[in-house]
Amino acid sequence: MFPGEVFANTADFDSGIRQLLPRYDEMLDVLVRCIPSGAQRILELGCGTGELSLKILKRYPSAQLISVDYSPRMIEFAADKVRSAGYANQWKGIEADFGDWANYEINLIDGFDACVSSLAIHHLTDEMKFKLFQRIYDSLKKPGSCFWNADPILAESPALAEVYQSARDDWASGQGTTLAEIRSKIGKSTPHGYSNPDQLATLSAHLEMVEKAGFKTVAVPWKYYGLAVFGGFV
Ligand SMILES: C[S@@+](CC[C@H](N)C(=O)[O-])C[C@H]1O[C@@H](n2cnc3c(N)ncnc32)[C@H](O)[C@@H]1O
Repeated sequence: MFPGEVFANTADFDSGIRQLLPRYDEMLDVLVRCIPSGAQRILELGCGTGELSLKILKRYPSAQLISVDYSPRMIEFAADKVRSAGYANQWKGIEADFGDWANYEINLIDGFDACVSSLAIHHLTDEMKFKLFQRIYDSLKKPGSCFWNADPILAESPALAEVYQSARDDWASGQGTTLAEIRSKIGKSTPHGYSNPDQLATLSAHLEMVEKAGFKTVAVPWKYYGLAVFGGFV
C-alpha cells in the first residue's frame, strides 16, 4: 500500500478515518471555511476518497477544483463520489505525486486562488515539506490567495504525546470501538515516490516553514490535541 491510503479496503476509509481521528469533519469544515469565498481555482493535494473535495464543492459550487493524488484507487473512489454528487464539471482528478510537483518535475498550470491539503503532507520529509510550501507559494495568485493544511503534528514532549494519545483512545471508545479494532483494518504501507509512513513535525516547525516559504499572514485556525489546521495568506 502507498503511504496515506491507510485502510486495506478503500471502502473502509470514510467511516474508518472518522473513528480513528477525533473531529475529522470539524477539522475539514474549518479548513474549507478559511478559503476566501471568491476563490475560483483551487488546488487540492492528496484528495484521497474526496471527502475534502466534496466539502469544498458544496460550499463553493462555482469553483474549479484540481485534485491531485498518486493513488489510482483513491482517485477513482473520489471521482465516483464527485460524479454522483453532480460536480463532475467542477472537479478534475490528476494522478500524480505532489513531491514531483514540488520539484518542478510536473506542471499543474499555476495561478491558484487557494491550495489545500488534509492528512497527506505529513508523509513528506521535512526537507520536502519545505520545498512543497515554497512551490505552493509560487503557484498562488498574489495577493489574497492562501494555503491551508490539516495534518497530524508531532507532540511537543513525551508527556504531551501521552495526552494526545489518550484523546484518540477516548475518541475511539466514544465511537463504540477501540483504536486496536480500527487499526486492524489499516494496511501496511511502504515508501512510495516522495512519501513515507508518518514524518511528523511539530506545529511550530510547520509554521516556521510556512513563513520562510513566503506566506505573510501565518495562522492556526484550528487545533485539537495532535491535529491542526495551519497555513496562511500570501
Ligand atoms: C489519509 S488520505 C487523506 C485524504 C483526504 N485528504 C482526507 O482528508 O480524507 C492521504 C492521501 O494522500 C495521498 N498521498 C500521500 N502522499 C502523496 C504524494 N506524495 N503525492 C500524491 N498523493 C499523496 C494518499 O494516496 C491518500 O489518498
